[in-house]
Amino acid sequence: MPELASRQHIKTIAAVVGEALSRAGVGLDAVDLYAVTQGPGLIGSLLVGLSFAKGLAYYRKKPLVGVDHLEAHLEACFLESPGIAYPVLGLLVSGGHTALYRMDEPLSCVLLGRTRDDAAGEALDKIAKFLGLGYPGGPVIEKLGRGGDPKAFPFAVPRTKDRSLDFSFSGLKTAALKHIRERRIVRDDPGLADFLASFEEVVARTLVDHVRAAVEIVRPRSLVLCGGVARNARLRARFQDFARGADLDAYVPSPKLCTDNAAMVGAVALKKHARCPTETPDLDLDAYARS
Ligand code: KG4
Ligand code: ZN
Repeated sequence: MPELASRQHIKTIAAVVGEALSRAGVGLDAVDLYAVTQGPGLIGSLLVGLSFAKGLAYYRKKPLVGVDHLEAHLEACFLESPGIAYPVLGLLVSGGHTALYRMDEPLSCVLLGRTRDDAAGEALDKIAKFLGLGYPGGPVIEKLGRGGDPKAFPFAVPRTKDRSLDFSFSGLKTAALKHIRERRIVRDDPGLADFLASFEEVVARTLVDHVRAAVEIVRPRSLVLCGGVARNARLRARFQDFARGADLDAYVPSPKLCTDNAAMVGAVALKKHARCPTETPDLDLDAYARS
């Protein structure tokens, strides 16, 4: 509910910024640079953040840098491993996006493929919702699927007919819903763990399959995996297994840097500001819903 989300942002943004400062043990006078997410995302929520950041930067007479949310997810990989060798092939898997990027240098990313329908996280969230397991679906599927047999349900890894690097998860979601209906899988089913492990497994394999295809084209020196779904242990393991087999260095941020966080937004802003220093806030920054 976008309208409710915007209103909630208005209610909480000052408290969240205040708490971040107090946890860091600093006041506003210690802030030299303001970073704010411009998009993509819910336009109302983005506008709340943007207006708040503009107000702060204007009042404190400090520079303000606009950041792309997806670029920030990719940057999260460099926070803990600044020396990652280029060219980099990046897989971003979040609740709203599933995409592959090539990066030849810092702050440059070229989109190679994206989802044509659901994002991977969205597919996990929808299946969990359908089973009444709550939101977000990824963590609960991971928890309840632990110990399940990932081969118990015959899911096929989807392939796009035109051999592009685009993803599609809607077919998998439909196949999962069919299994749920046919086998009458419910919340307290003894077969639930097998079903969830099988679904998680095919999602992870689909993602890694695309990485494999992209490696053939990009010939990267390193691989990075980011976004909320990158917290998933099965996906992390499949990704690392593939990288080892392909003899490539692979990097996955610590779980807390995979899901949305402010550190990754600040990290992009620092690099952008170092490249293009300015002393005044850019008050013309605008929000965008889509990339
Ligand atoms: O990147 P993120 O925090 O927000 C977006 O930008 O969308 O990603 C949120 C997504 C949700 O779909 C959530 O279900 C998924 O990340 N997620 C996980 C796990 N933790 C979060 N998916 C699988 N396994 C997890 N452990
Ligand atoms: Zn995100």
